[in-house]
Amino acid sequence: MFDVVYDGQTCTAFAVRYQGAVHAYLNRCSHVAMEMDWRAGHFFDLTGHYLVCASHGALFRPGDGVCIGGPGRGPLIKIQLQERDGWVFWQSQYRLRPVAF
Ligand code: FES
Repeated sequence: MFDVVYDGQTCTAFAVRYQGAVHAYLNRCSHVAMEMDWRAGHFFDLTGHYLVCASHGALFRPGDGVCIGGPGRGPLIKIQLQERDGWVFWQSQYRLRPVAF
């Protein structure tokens, strides 16, 4: 997990690797603006194919953040990433920063 500035606020974001690609989202559910991890840093459901919100169980596709079940009200907010030479960077307004996960 890492911090990003979103809408003027410092928020937690998370990155996951799914089917070989890395994806990152704001750690904020689209149902209610609550952090989603059911245990610190754990976002996948038991199948390993969907991101699940710990509060009310909304399910999201890890590749694009689209809600596919439960009370979510739209997709997760995606964080733009770049992966180069085994390193993953998220794009801040001013520079690339490495992501550790
Ligand atoms: S806050 Fe995530 S499903 Fe309700």
